[in-house]
Amino acid sequence: MIEVSPIRYENGQFEILDQTQLPGTEAWLTMETREDIWDAIHALKVRGAPAIGVAAAYGMWIAAKNSSADSREAFYEACREHGDYLCSSRPTAVNLSWAVKRMLRLVKTWNPDAEGLAGASWEAQRTALLDRMLQEAVAVQKEDEEACRRMGEYGLRLLSPGMGILTHCNAGALATAKYGTCLAPIHLGQEKGYGFHVFADETRPLLQGARLTCWELMKSGVDTTLICDNMAATVMKKGWIDAVVVGCDRMAANGDGANKIGTSGVAILAKEFDIPFYMYVPTSTIDLDTETGDEIRIECRDGEEIYQMWYEKDMAPAGVKTFNPAFDVTSHENITAVITEKGIVRPPYKENLAAIAAAPARDGE
Ligand code: MRU
Repeated sequence: MIEVSPIRYENGQFEILDQTQLPGTEAWLTMETREDIWDAIHALKVRGAPAIGVAAAYGMWIAAKNSSADSREAFYEACREHGDYLCSSRPTAVNLSWAVKRMLRLVKTWNPDAEGLAGASWEAQRTALLDRMLQEAVAVQKEDEEACRRMGEYGLRLLSPGMGILTHCNAGALATAKYGTCLAPIHLGQEKGYGFHVFADETRPLLQGARLTCWELMKSGVDTTLICDNMAATVMKKGWIDAVVVGCDRMAANGDGANKIGTSGVAILAKEFDIPFYMYVPTSTIDLDTETGDEIRIECRDGEEIYQMWYEKDMAPAGVKTFNPAFDVTSHENITAVITEKGIVRPPYKENLAAIAAAPARDGE
């Protein structure tokens, strides 16, 4: 399977692949401060819900390493503040706060007695606790890799050789620790000779489909066709699409799923043309505390991204008003199945999502 990963920890350094420079340049950035992480997440240098979660886990370690708390209590309080700061970088993907909470839980419950450090100096305990935080960040990364590998296997059961598949945004290797969520079965199918034909929506305004999905699918050798977002109905009507696969940034308890702006329109079209619509949602992206999609906070970004950022000159008259929500919510009624690392979930979502979130990893539907 594809070996691309947008995140690496090597020789004591945490680095991210700057996705704003893809597909032209593959540049790695070293993250040295919590501000580096905040900026990387906010500017989409690292992006995609699971990858943001992994970056936040390492971000908590980096922030804690750089701060000079002089007691265990002060260390925990500092970590809480680092967590609030990192969570303010982007609001929609739940993986960010999920990873921060996981790191905070570790700091709170870490027991120096169990490490043989009961009477040791705070300095010695701090060093051991930081080591433990680093191990936890590495675990978050490895678990995401494994979750994506499993989603690839489950997802492939829903697809057949030769299918035409439409995808929106990038929920691939670049959006995760490795392999991707909804692109994992496509990379896996490619390895097994399935011969899929993938149509990638360009995904305005930041062009994750054009810049990132096409880059990684073509690296895998997948037959890939780029279309503008407003062409989805045309390729569906022509009968070229047998399934739609997308990722998710936060799925509410009732199965409503927030994903890249434009996803909900694709789901409505898929229903119209009787095409199955599959949403790939690792359990770290299921937010059972949020009842429905109406409660999901949707990030609104700078309007310049629409008419300025990617163009040599402005593509709209000066002073134009803009509205630039980064995500929308697909109704659970338009989702044929949800693919998690623990198996495939079908309606009724309220009951079945709660059950899968609580279940141990299992084999099959
Ligand atoms: O704004 P982005 O590029 O972070 O948005 C990414 C998406 O919407 C992805 O589809 C989602 O995070 C799932 S990634 C596996």
